[in-house]
Amino acid sequence: MAAPQPPRTDAWWRDAVIYQVYPRSFADGDGDGTGDLAGIRARLPHLAELGVDAVWFTPWYTSPMIDGGYDVTDYRAIDPAFGTLDDAEKLIAEAHALGIRTIVDIVPNHVSDQHPWFQAALTAGPGSPERARFHFRPGRGEHGQDPPNTWPSQFSGTTWTRVPDGEYYLHLFTPQQPDLNWNHPDVRREHEDILRFWFDRGVAGVRIDSAALLVKHPDLPDLHEDTDPHPYIDQDELHDIYRSWRTVADQYGAVFVGEVWLPDAERFARYLRPGELHTAFNFSFLTCPWEPERLRAAIDDTLAEHAPVGAPATWVLCNHDVTRTVTRYGRTDTAFDFATKTFDTPTDLQLGTRRARAAALLTLALPGSVYLYQGEELGLPEADIPRERIQDPMHFRSGGTDPGRDGCRVPLPWHADAPHYGFSTTSTQTGTGGEPWLPQPDDWADYAVDRQATDPHSMLTLYRRALHLRRTEPGFGDGPLTWQPTHPGVLTFTRPHGLTCTVNLTDHPVPLPPHTHLLLTSNPLHPDGTLPPDTTAWLRGRRP
Ligand code: NOJ
Repeated sequence: MAAPQPPRTDAWWRDAVIYQVYPRSFADGDGDGTGDLAGIRARLPHLAELGVDAVWFTPWYTSPMIDGGYDVTDYRAIDPAFGTLDDAEKLIAEAHALGIRTIVDIVPNHVSDQHPWFQAALTAGPGSPERARFHFRPGRGEHGQDPPNTWPSQFSGTTWTRVPDGEYYLHLFTPQQPDLNWNHPDVRREHEDILRFWFDRGVAGVRIDSAALLVKHPDLPDLHEDTDPHPYIDQDELHDIYRSWRTVADQYGAVFVGEVWLPDAERFARYLRPGELHTAFNFSFLTCPWEPERLRAAIDDTLAEHAPVGAPATWVLCNHDVTRTVTRYGRTDTAFDFATKTFDTPTDLQLGTRRARAAALLTLALPGSVYLYQGEELGLPEADIPRERIQDPMHFRSGGTDPGRDGCRVPLPWHADAPHYGFSTTSTQTGTGGEPWLPQPDDWADYAVDRQATDPHSMLTLYRRALHLRRTEPGFGDGPLTWQPTHPGVLTFTRPHGLTCTVNLTDHPVPLPPHTHLLLTSNPLHPDGTLPPDTTAWLRGRRP
């Protein structure tokens, strides 16, 4: 195992590598087929050896798991399937001892319909103060038979569900996720208290779920194609909320990363102004196809939009909501779009993997912080989940046309020859371990951590080397990026200290830029020293 690294105490988040753990699928410590905190604690050495700076845990709170834990009943308690608060505190401390900070996921837009506040609102009835914490409204039409407005759900279908007394409540996601009313002081107070609760437990940061959706126009007006401004995306009042959150975070030196899906670069950057969020996910890069001009534009636009507010960019290739990178890059359409996902899309995994390796080195060489999603370091492909095992509400609410997000949430393979690839940390000792909550493909043995760890050409070895270099060599992380003139279809940029990154997106080999040292390549060079297609090289040495 790598020697523990003391946490960097400066603005560590400006250039950190942050690893996303989806607790249900990372490692199972009690053999019941569901990942848990004991499993994560047992596998922390994997993260230390990989060389990440922080871990972001998707929600681990008590939840009926209708939307994978993004339907929370108690933000201060750990779901029993995952463990206890004591386990979480131990996990945070053990990670910290390995030099790894913890980021938790806060879900402020909605709660579970089993949350005590919502249950109280149902009982209390129309006009009650309990209902005022949510968006309850009478229906439209003579008998109130029509929903209060025409907002479509983020997961298809309507955003309104009628309760037995005739009122409707708003839910931008599933009916089991009622939206909170952020104009209510209880809601604001409660969330600042939740932030303090986790900061008091040593958490270094918070990922804010659906960060641009919290505030709704008070009249809840209908939404048409030309409705401007939008009645619930990116309302100006959100900035007051985040300025107030920031004062809480600053008392602890903690940081925020917002899940802000906004096409408008200027509006996006407003969330990153001084005194608001430290960082936000860069989804324009995640959704960008594997094409040189588009990638360069996405990088330039990202850097240009962050520069005026002084915030570092974040770079993300995948997460628990999107098609895994090696699969996406192996398709004819290499962009990501929720609206166009279908079953049975032809995929060339060899090509996709080659590109994902090149993309990994590209991403890790860019200025700012990088998010890795568990399994990305193993090059896991999107799994085909048999329809009868699918759990994601996105699939059901699409009428069964969208495959949903389970294909990127399959339990990780740790040991090639253990039952369920050693997903259960007890299985390697006892030879047992429950059936994982989502089925693992039969051909995943070669993706297992133990097999990849000893293979110098594996994805895991590439990530370990890259993260090690990124941490020990000068020029990576925060700082300027300068594009260099190069061949069409090739992206070449320099970073401080003579560091050069070059990516060949053509279909033929190209010469390497002048250099004195070759630090790393995503695939071997040709024997004549040229850079093959879909390959990235990190070089050192100033251009002549
Ligand atoms: C974004 C999360 O990443 C996703 O998984 C979840 O379904 C929605 N927000 C709703 O909380």
